[in-house]
Amino acid sequence: MISVLVDPVHSELGFKVLRIGNFPEIRIDYKKFPDGETYVRLKSTINGKRIAYITTGYPQQDESIIRTLFITKTLKELGAKEVIVVYAYFPYARQDKRFLEGEAISARIVAEAIINAGADELITIDVHAEEVYEGLPFKNITTEEIWAEFVKKYEEPFLIAPDKGRMDFIKRIAERAGLREDYIAFQKKRDLVTGKIVGHEPIDKEKFMELLRNKKTAVLIDDIISTGGTAASVIKELRGKFKGKIVAGFTHGLFLPGSIEKLLEAGADEIIATDTVKNNFSSISVAKLIADYLRRR
Ligand code: R5P
Repeated sequence: MISVLVDPVHSELGFKVLRIGNFPEIRIDYKKFPDGETYVRLKSTINGKRIAYITTGYPQQDESIIRTLFITKTLKELGAKEVIVVYAYFPYARQDKRFLEGEAISARIVAEAIINAGADELITIDVHAEEVYEGLPFKNITTEEIWAEFVKKYEEPFLIAPDKGRMDFIKRIAERAGLREDYIAFQKKRDLVTGKIVGHEPIDKEKFMELLRNKKTAVLIDDIISTGGTAASVIKELRGKFKGKIVAGFTHGLFLPGSIEKLLEAGADEIIATDTVKNNFSSISVAKLIADYLRRR
């Protein structure tokens, strides 16, 4: 049986996993030194145990990484048979390429650091781009089944991917929810003269118009909301043409200041997120997905 160590700072999700899976708990002392440095001390017996550390990377991403490194390495030094790091929201996941020459590929660096500290497996939920972790003991758990259940409660729904990168994710949710072809992806719209991004447009305009005519609820689902700019731009385009209900759903709700206002001003009727990050909208829980995965392992 796996034992669970709950992040002493972002603890809510970890305690849910602990309860749902009825896992034995590993205890930890955590504090900050007066100068702000991190202190951790494992208080349970570690030797020979398989341990899952449940954490998430927002807010205070950098601190969460340091804490994870200290905990992972110490668990291994104390003789843990296996250390599984569950990072529900993986920090730096969007810096997955050298977009500009000389940039750090932060997503990969963070993952490698955790594995080099001794993690036998690194697990995330709806990570931004899985390819960047290729070759590492990395597992991404998808929330597709949760969203498929969620969208079923709406009248005549269709699904929206805010960019082409989310298209397959949305397609699989639609299939699971029995919505077949009732989904559409958007793409960035550029000014033809200046080349600047001026908004979003549906990839298939004809299909979009048909969905608008026949459906009553539009459910946008994205992996992350940060500034709210992407989702608000798509919702604005939609609101101009659609009289039905607009729901904005996110796996990782970072909700930076001003983002909620942007969504509401653009025309969102409802905002929802999972609890990979705790906030006022995080009413969909991923705890069971994590507990089920750990039980099967
Ligand atoms: C982009 O590829 C992501 O999937 C999100 O759409 C994006 O990171 C959201 O960021 P923001 O809320 O700042 O537009």
